[in-house]
Amino acid sequence: GEIINKSGKQKVGLEIASMVKDGDVLGVGSGSTVYMALLAIADRIKTERINVKAIPTSLEISMFCSKLGIPLTTLFEHTPDWLFDGADEVDPNNNLIKGRGGAMFKEKLLISASTVNYIIVDDSKKVEKLGTNFPIPVEVFPQALLHVEKGLKAIGATAVKLRPAKGKDGPIITENGNLILDCNFSEMHNELEKDIKTITGVIESGLFIGYNLNILMAAN
Ligand code: A5P
Repeated sequence: GEIINKSGKQKVGLEIASMVKDGDVLGVGSGSTVYMALLAIADRIKTERINVKAIPTSLEISMFCSKLGIPLTTLFEHTPDWLFDGADEVDPNNNLIKGRGGAMFKEKLLISASTVNYIIVDDSKKVEKLGTNFPIPVEVFPQALLHVEKGLKAIGATAVKLRPAKGKDGPIITENGNLILDCNFSEMHNELEKDIKTITGVIESGLFIGYNLNILMAAN
């Protein structure tokens, strides 16, 4: 992907909104950066009466879209024409860690389904090596927890932590009814995403290696 320099998340949000064409179906990632772009898109829908549909990656974003008057659709009905999302870490090869918000399964599904993807980050997300500031989140089918934990350790996980819920006792339950294991690995390598996915019971990980992504750099 290409690197495009912009100043500020808001400016990038406006840039994203300016790329929207009448009739577009947009894949919409999750997080605060995405929200900035949605505000600008909602503005264009209101003022220009363009016809846009969004496929959301989380309940959070579904609710934002509805509140902002952006119509929703699903992957059953449409394939995204293009997508925008944020990230938690990006390395020099445009590989990502995502999933701070726990939505990485649908985020990866939509990024895989969409041929054109824009990832908006700022300097704070840039790392030399993935795993520097964030663990790799792994969404796990609940009954497979112990099996997956063992499997992750067998492929080099040094720490595997069940993500706790906020405002509720016990672990976080994803929108798909699953658990999240936040994992640190002794070694980052290009096969790690595939190796994690090979373990039965893993729904998806927040590691994105070798995807065709356009990184939009927002100035801090
Ligand atoms: C959600 O699961 C994450 O992948 C987000 O895309 C990521 O955390 C970026 O969020 P912010 O835009 O809020 O930094």
